[in-house]
Amino acid sequence: MELEKRNMGVNIVDLEKDISDTKQVLELMKAQIAMLGEQIPLIETEEQKPEEFPDYNEKKVLVTGGAGAIGTNLSKRLAELGAKVTILDNLSSAYEWNIPVHKNIKFVKGDILNDEDLKRVFKEKPDYVFHLAAHFANQNSVDSPETDLMINGIGILKVLQYANLVKVKRFVYSSSGCGVYGLDSKMPFEEHDISIKLHTPYQVTKLLGELYTNYFYNLYNLPIVNARFFNVFGPGEVPGKYRNVIPNFFYWAMNGKSLPITGTGEETRDWTYVEDIVDGLLTMGLEEKAIGESINLGSGKEHKVIDMAAEVNRLTTNNAGMKQVGERDWDVKKRLCSSIEKARRILGYEPKTTFEEGLKKVHDWFMENKHNINKNAEF
Ligand SMILES: NC(=O)c1ccc[n+]([C@@H]2O[C@H](COP(=O)([O-])OP(=O)(O)OC[C@H]3O[C@@H](n4cnc5c(N)ncnc54)[C@H](O)[C@@H]3O)[C@@H](O)[C@H]2O)c1
Repeated sequence: MELEKRNMGVNIVDLEKDISDTKQVLELMKAQIAMLGEQIPLIETEEQKPEEFPDYNEKKVLVTGGAGAIGTNLSKRLAELGAKVTILDNLSSAYEWNIPVHKNIKFVKGDILNDEDLKRVFKEKPDYVFHLAAHFANQNSVDSPETDLMINGIGILKVLQYANLVKVKRFVYSSSGCGVYGLDSKMPFEEHDISIKLHTPYQVTKLLGELYTNYFYNLYNLPIVNARFFNVFGPGEVPGKYRNVIPNFFYWAMNGKSLPITGTGEETRDWTYVEDIVDGLLTMGLEEKAIGESINLGSGKEHKVIDMAAEVNRLTTNNAGMKQVGERDWDVKKRLCSSIEKARRILGYEPKTTFEEGLKKVHDWFMENKHNINKNAEF
């Protein structure tokens, strides 16, 4: 009997046991893969042929703060264009589930204030750096002014030093319209009309960032561009205590809360859809005429806070309306509107997404990511 179970030196009893063990292992692996599948994040990106911006194909691009609201959108687009993207982000105001999954994206969890982390990402000698990492934004900086200065001041200085060392082709800095234009600047804001009468540490340090990029350009000829964003909104921004008003309004509206209006509601903002910002940034990375310049990236249009709130309530079918709450003492600008003439002239920039379309896309994104958003939104 035992002999029958032997065949050419292979012990069939052992083999049968091996086979049953292997089956068990296979079942276990299948179960683990299924579980992993459930944990694998979310944003699957599509393979695309790099028809536009072909210069990014196969190039190494470092996006600091690439796990954040704008950074995720920029990194995804760069990856689709064939760039090899490294995201450096310490996840202080971002979430791993929100980072796009793409074979061209590598995520390095690290800090722009840490030399070891910086050495690690600059060892790859990136061709382009988009510096988006920041302590965000006004209220956060009023509450933690020293952290704001560390990250937005020392942080950008360090990233610039490394970028200069490896001689990047372009360093694009995410500056801020609300940071550099003040009450004494004329609307619509033109690039030359900056102000030093600022109201928050964040505004001070976003302007400081431009002073540092300009210094690296003037002294070392580092090819920098300062992108001055205006009130960016779109899919990818998780609501929270220090986040922008649009994601916060969606969050509250979807939870049946009335929307807090901090002024009269007649105040205006120049809300700019994130994909338009990404288009502007990608051109800034390549256009020679942009080197050494500061350029507004806005929608060039004003919308009232009260109208935005009404649209959010309509999209979410929220019946709780709005409520008047106290003004924030630093929030003194009644109107914000960019001039985008320089961006048009130098970059051929033209915003494509209307405010209403953009709000609809944010709503869609909230619906798709409701679970993670509700888990992570902190107030
Ligand atoms: N969103 C806007 O309306 C707006 C307007 C003007 C300018 N900007 C600028 O654009 C950039 C991106 O803005 P966002 O809205 O995506 O903000 P965000 O907070 O979503 O992104 C910033 C990212 O930087 C990361 N970060 C913070 N400190 C870091 C550190 N020490 N090391 C590494 N990573 C760190 C955060 O985790 C986050 O992912 C910022 O520089 C911001 O100042 C944004």
